[in-house]
Amino acid sequence: MPLPATRRTLLAASAAATLAACGLARAQTADTFRIGLIAPLTGPFASTGKQLETAARLYIAKNGNTIAGKKVELIVKDDAGTADVTKRLAQELVTGDKVQVLAGFGLTPLAFATAPVATQGKTPMVVMAAATSTITESSPWIVRTSFTVAQVVTALADWAAKNGIKRVVSLVSDYAPGIDSEKYFNERFVSRGGTIVEAIRVPLRNPDFAPFLQKVSDAKPEALFAFVPAGVGSALMKQFTERGLDKSGIRLIAEGSVTDDDILDSMGDVALGVVTAHHYSAAHNSAANKAFVEAFGAANGGRRPNFMAVGAWDGMRVIYEAAKATGGAGGEALLAAMKAQSFESPRGPLQIDPATRDVVHNVYIRKVERINGQLWNQEIETIPMVRDPGKTKP
Ligand code: PHB
Repeated sequence: MPLPATRRTLLAASAAATLAACGLARAQTADTFRIGLIAPLTGPFASTGKQLETAARLYIAKNGNTIAGKKVELIVKDDAGTADVTKRLAQELVTGDKVQVLAGFGLTPLAFATAPVATQGKTPMVVMAAATSTITESSPWIVRTSFTVAQVVTALADWAAKNGIKRVVSLVSDYAPGIDSEKYFNERFVSRGGTIVEAIRVPLRNPDFAPFLQKVSDAKPEALFAFVPAGVGSALMKQFTERGLDKSGIRLIAEGSVTDDDILDSMGDVALGVVTAHHYSAAHNSAANKAFVEAFGAANGGRRPNFMAVGAWDGMRVIYEAAKATGGAGGEALLAAMKAQSFESPRGPLQIDPATRDVVHNVYIRKVERINGQLWNQEIETIPMVRDPGKTKP
């Protein structure tokens, strides 16, 4: 039966509207370069998300919001630190928003959960925060601008052995980067003649360090080696003093997340003298870093950038430079242009290794010192251009 004229008109009008909407969406996609940034902006790791978002926005503010004639659009999503949410948001960003690149990833499980989305969507994924070695092997579309814990804790193990420390207890958060920290520190320390008296793992979420620190106290090592993710170091440090470990002659040495620049100054004198290894300190003495710290503080109520911020800042640079090289195209071309970048970062020299897509940079041994009334991670030794020792493939 033929449709009445009014229905036909309505149908034709709605089909035309749909086509117009599709055309508009296509036009928007052609005119924009979209970056989907997923970060924990709420929940226990919100400080990481804030650092990532602030640095990414700062990069755009300082470097302009057009690339190759396209408008840069940063779409920021909060995953609250929950892996299934990260994955769903990444799927929406790839299929709905048609982002050219995924970025962020505040914790290792969130990066692992997203890797298949990047692979299936053929979308480059820039890991700006997470630090477990094998993340880059979970998708050929991943490029990392953060660091690996294996890079930094092996340097710390060398430092400890060289500085006469012989007996160590390790204490790490019980998830992938903690397990990497334990493995790479302990193996390297033992290979340098040291002894691991005990290896302790604590829950990632809401850890009560007290019973674990009691064990450390009982084991009477010369030093406690610790890894907890960014933002959690204050609680560890507080309980370390409350249980009197600082007074009992047990020295604290740590992966640099423990004295994270975002929270270091609020830790007080207990942090003084703590030796850590990391790839970024807000105290790094270079013109590039001074400009970065100043701009970050100006945009963020005087706060310091931490290593999460520098991972996001450098990640945005990798994205921008690659997008300029491809004229704003995404996919394989963008990925290819991201590999083999090398530049001066606020952290020091940085390279992306084209074979592994992982970051190569200096690792610094740092000591917490009070300078002009504030606590800083003062760099005392540099190990130049360290590759990730944790790659299972070359
Ligand atoms: C990680 O989950 O990979 C991670 C997060 C925070 C850190 C270090 C590693 O400070």
